[in-house]
Amino acid sequence: MNIDEARVLLKENGQSHVLNFHDQLDASRQQSLLRQIAELDFSSIRRMWAMLKSTSGEDENFPQSQPTPPDVMQLTDEQREAASAAGDKVLSKAEVGVLLVAGGQGSRLGYDGPKGAFSVGPISGASLFYFHARKVLSLSRRYGVHIPLYIMTSELNDAATRSHFEQHAFFGLDPQDVIFFTQNMWPALDPAGRIMMDRPDHIFMSPDGHGGTLSALHRRGCLDDMERRGISTIFYLQVDNPLVEIADPAFVGVHAEQQADFSVKLCTKRAAREGMGVVVERDGHYEMVEYSEFDKPENHCLTALNQSGELIFKFGSVAIHIFSYEFLKQEALRDMPLHIAHKKIPVCNAHGETLIPTEPNGFKFEKFIFDVLPDAGKVVNLAFERADEFSPVKNADGDDSPATCRRDLQLKWLRWLQAQGVTAELNFEGLPLLPIEIDPAYALNADDLKERGFLLRDFSAPPVYDASVK
Ligand code: UTP
Repeated sequence: MNIDEARVLLKENGQSHVLNFHDQLDASRQQSLLRQIAELDFSSIRRMWAMLKSTSGEDENFPQSQPTPPDVMQLTDEQREAASAAGDKVLSKAEVGVLLVAGGQGSRLGYDGPKGAFSVGPISGASLFYFHARKVLSLSRRYGVHIPLYIMTSELNDAATRSHFEQHAFFGLDPQDVIFFTQNMWPALDPAGRIMMDRPDHIFMSPDGHGGTLSALHRRGCLDDMERRGISTIFYLQVDNPLVEIADPAFVGVHAEQQADFSVKLCTKRAAREGMGVVVERDGHYEMVEYSEFDKPENHCLTALNQSGELIFKFGSVAIHIFSYEFLKQEALRDMPLHIAHKKIPVCNAHGETLIPTEPNGFKFEKFIFDVLPDAGKVVNLAFERADEFSPVKNADGDDSPATCRRDLQLKWLRWLQAQGVTAELNFEGLPLLPIEIDPAYALNADDLKERGFLLRDFSAPPVYDASVK
């Protein structure tokens, strides 16, 4: 794109100010600004501005009618066994791929690097990526197949994510089976709908939300890659939860048997206003209501109690999903709803200096993956045991922090050991006095551990993720 084309495009879209500093920049910075302008998605920017104008910050497409609780499957031991057998078949046919979204900025954690590289291993100090990758490795070995791991990054953390995998020899995975792809970046708008610049030659950009996964899978060729590999079933997880049971065969089995488009794992909420989305049925389809939307009048019932004092909508979603390939493909090019957030955004002043605001001064927009739920013809909601599968690293301290995550990892492994009659001395929190850590490539669950037995390793020596543990 040349400067004349950029001028016309920006003028048509009421964004001419983006070139305010252009004439004062050297040639290479001018080029870099023009490249950024060429990549802007003006149709989405027009939608963002329309949304900002028309709703004063309300999300688009808000529904009107009252929701009802969804049907949630709760498997008996027998049903779980049957579902696992069905899942084993899908996994053995090499039809399962794993989709890990790791493009977020992890601002609450405040870690300087990709969140996936954050250390959670109680003994080894291994990263969140280590736990996910070693589970995929373990499953690939168990079923004797290649399980592709698609990792969504953003421009802000792509290079660091790739180098983390390279430094750790892909945690034992075949690099051909680890596919990195970047999500789209969006500008922020000021209250007048103007694209915000953080430097004279630079537009402030941030990732377009985990809902950006769908279009990114398409644009970066991952859907084609899945088709080439014959992937029918895509297990979706977020980077911050190392307890997730990746491609849990029972979940895969239920999804397959029900021929579902979209399956969701749900757990019991701890409090009415816990920060989890809630699946509801409304107007004949399922949808996910984010906790930030509980205050809308039509959603008040989501925090209400029944006569026994229990939550009527007692299940929350923790972003553990399975998609069918066909459904992902169908949704990839769809315009998803936008969600808006009022944020502190660095801005460039009239003198070309960058100012960091102390109060929110602009609007970021994001897409959420679960907004495709209403389009799904067949949905499975499966209840799961929270303690075994969910303890994310979201905050630097307090709830959902590295400390609670390491604790919950150890409590899970402790239960596996106790199932074999091991007794451990516990502290006042119920945690073992000696820390526990189990490499997922050694044992994925209590049964694996029982089968393989356990050995004591010297963790003062090399890290466990050198792929030597078979
Ligand atoms: P969160 O909503 O917890 O956001 O993401 P975050 O960016 O990790 O953390 P905060 O809110 O800035 O503190 C949930 C999952 O979705 C991914 C994240 O990487 C995480 O796995 N995500 C989020 C993306 O991949 N892209 C995005 O644009 C946003």
